[in-house]
Amino acid sequence: MTHRIAVIAGDGIGTEVIPEGLRALEAAAKRFNIDLDCQTFEFGSCDYYLEHGKMLPDDWFEQLKDFDALFYGAVGWPEKVPDHISLWGSLLQFRRQFDQYINLRPCKLMPGIKSPLAGRQPGDIDFYVVRENTEGEYSSVGGKMFEGTDREVVIQDTVMTRTGIDRVLKYAFDLAQTRPRKKLTSATKSNGISITMPYWDERVEAMAKGYPEIAVDKFHIDILTANFVLHPDWFDVVVGSNLFGDILSDLGPACTGTIGIAPSANINPEGKFPSLFEPVHGSAPDIAGKGIANPIGQIWSGAMMLEHLGHQEAADAMLKAIEAVLASGDQGVLTPDVGGQGTTESLGRAIAEKIAG
Ligand code: NAD
Ligand code: IPM
Ligand code: MN
Repeated sequence: MTHRIAVIAGDGIGTEVIPEGLRALEAAAKRFNIDLDCQTFEFGSCDYYLEHGKMLPDDWFEQLKDFDALFYGAVGWPEKVPDHISLWGSLLQFRRQFDQYINLRPCKLMPGIKSPLAGRQPGDIDFYVVRENTEGEYSSVGGKMFEGTDREVVIQDTVMTRTGIDRVLKYAFDLAQTRPRKKLTSATKSNGISITMPYWDERVEAMAKGYPEIAVDKFHIDILTANFVLHPDWFDVVVGSNLFGDILSDLGPACTGTIGIAPSANINPEGKFPSLFEPVHGSAPDIAGKGIANPIGQIWSGAMMLEHLGHQEAADAMLKAIEAVLASGDQGVLTPDVGGQGTTESLGRAIAEKIAG
């Protein structure tokens, strides 16, 4: 069976880490006899926008909907195109139109990486952020009035639906069920945000009744961010709204040493539409073009893609290769964000070689 993968590199370091993601996937595909048919698309980048006046062609949905997965780099280059235009014109459309309502973001302290949190060892930080990915604070409901006058008004609503909350909670509870600690933490802000967040809490309580073996904790987002730093070992599966999940999924990886290794899966669990796999990080204009971006976030996202496509053994081998190369501490191979003097390519090649076995 052939898996058809649409590859979109996007902007900045997206174009540098995608080739390493593909190199690793190729090595895994060869070793485990997986047939991957990768097709590259030029759209979904700010350069495409500058040429065409839009981020995607009008028929992008038709072009992509029959792929088995999308493998995405990063998008955004604020000097060329304002971020809300580039992101709402590409990535956020994919998440919405392909109903990728789960954003799954593992956060794990890897061997060989020094956590900025004193004394933390691998094993101390190992949790998932499950982020609601299609509604919440990322709504397109709102508008402007009296533009250009001193009476200017801007409004953007938060949209939370019972269906939207319940389906992400169900995914998170099911995930917690598969984990040894069976622990779920819900992030809200029900003291200050008095309608949507208490409603989320109510839905958590209702869902928890169906999962008596799961220990459920809830925190307001402010103290939760503090606890990510002070007690990262408390967490197992952390579920939150679109915005809270976004914030926690940068903070978590920062606690594991670098955002450069963090992967993510934007999943449509029903498989009606393709899911999308991309690193958590962005296009990093500050280091783009230097060849020093860490490719692990992209490679690990590739592992999540293979797992999603049913190739658990290959995904495990990819993760083991990442861990082995990080644990080697080879300064000449590792990128600067993890203490080395190597390049995107040296790290990518070392991981691909390990995957090849
Ligand atoms: P960013 O993630 O691009 O960069 C934040 C910091 O982390 C920078 O200092 C960068 O050098 C560093 N960094 C990121 N990835 C790294 C890697 N692989 N290796 C080493 N260091 C790495 O976030 P930002 O600066 O807020 O955003 C830059 C652009 O990317 C903006 O246009 C933003 O909207 C966009 N963005 C896109 C995505 C996405 O496509 N999913 C995610 C986040 C940001
Ligand atoms: C992410 C990014 C995006 C988000 C931006 C670029 C719109 O930060 O994937 O985490 O907020 O979802
Ligand atoms: Mn983010």
